[in-house]
Amino acid sequence: MAIKTIGVLTSGGDAPGMNAAIRAVVRTAIHNGINVKGIMRGYAGLLQEEIVDMESTSVSEIIHRGGTILYTARCQEFTTAEGQKKGAEICKKHGIDGVVVIGGDGSFKGAGKLSALGINTIGIPGTIDLDIACTDYTIGFDTAVNTAMDAIDKVRDTSTSHERCSIIEVMGRNAGYIALWCGFANGAEDVLLPERYDGNEQALIDRIIENRKRGKKHHIIINAEGIGHSVSMAKRIEAATGIETRATILGYMQRGGAPTCMDRVYASIMGDKAVELLLAGKSNRLVAYKNGDFVDFDIQEALAMKKDISEDQFRICKLLVR
Ligand code: ADP
Ligand code: F6P
Repeated sequence: MAIKTIGVLTSGGDAPGMNAAIRAVVRTAIHNGINVKGIMRGYAGLLQEEIVDMESTSVSEIIHRGGTILYTARCQEFTTAEGQKKGAEICKKHGIDGVVVIGGDGSFKGAGKLSALGINTIGIPGTIDLDIACTDYTIGFDTAVNTAMDAIDKVRDTSTSHERCSIIEVMGRNAGYIALWCGFANGAEDVLLPERYDGNEQALIDRIIENRKRGKKHHIIINAEGIGHSVSMAKRIEAATGIETRATILGYMQRGGAPTCMDRVYASIMGDKAVELLLAGKSNRLVAYKNGDFVDFDIQEALAMKKDISEDQFRICKLLVR
């Protein structure tokens, strides 16, 4: 049966570029004669039937804006079998026979459930953390890492002037991609990644003292959120080294702001691809960018894949700081 109406929702943590993906979903669908409904506030809005008709003009003036015009939420009820059944029934009631879910791994688990209940569902990876295994690109990472890089440059200026040590905490609860990329881009003396950090603070302190003896004016430590404790770490480092040490937690500023060109373009392509998959009668697929191509994976296979920080990149990052 040909698809007549699709829904689109954003779920989990927001990411700059989600609006570009929504815009592409809406406009590609309309171009192909398909109706589009915006499902507000992720699965929570689905269960509350917060569903609105979308026209081409509903997505005007959003490509350059961070956040998501559909809002986003986390929804415990949708993790239950009853919640999922209710969600599928609400889709059917509103004539929605395909759904595009823009979010992270948790959101894709939900998308897989909707698909199993007969609603053709396609996922698009949207998270600043870059921690979705099947794809080399996730919507929002490029913007977030550029935001963090700019902020760290600024902290570096004042850190150098005062000859201080600075611990700068970037987002990434389980994944250190933002930390690693900033490590490279900001030339940080130390990068602490959740995937690698062994908790050896003494080694860190020894390096700070050694660098100061060699005449280094600052010592920048990029610490991933997953390791955390930046403020107490700064106090311990100052006590052990005698060097003034300050902590800066960048926090949610990394999730906002105008998306970079890359996030606007890739998110737009992914939005188009998601609708193309629905038009081809596909379901339970995840749009991905792998080895230079836009491709798609089975959702369960994608969720079973593992991803890790490149050991080689981590080595190079550390090697380049002298
Ligand atoms: P992300 O999508 O960014 O990983 P979450 O893990 O918070 O964010 O997931 C977003 C939402 O996806 C959850 O609030 C919930 O509604 C839904 N979800 C998460 N896990 C499951 C699951 N196992 N089954 C169904 N829905 C889920
Ligand atoms: O979406 C990714 C992320 O920014 C993580 O790095 C962070 O741990 C998490 O979201 C925080 O999300 P929230 O505070 O909105 O639950």
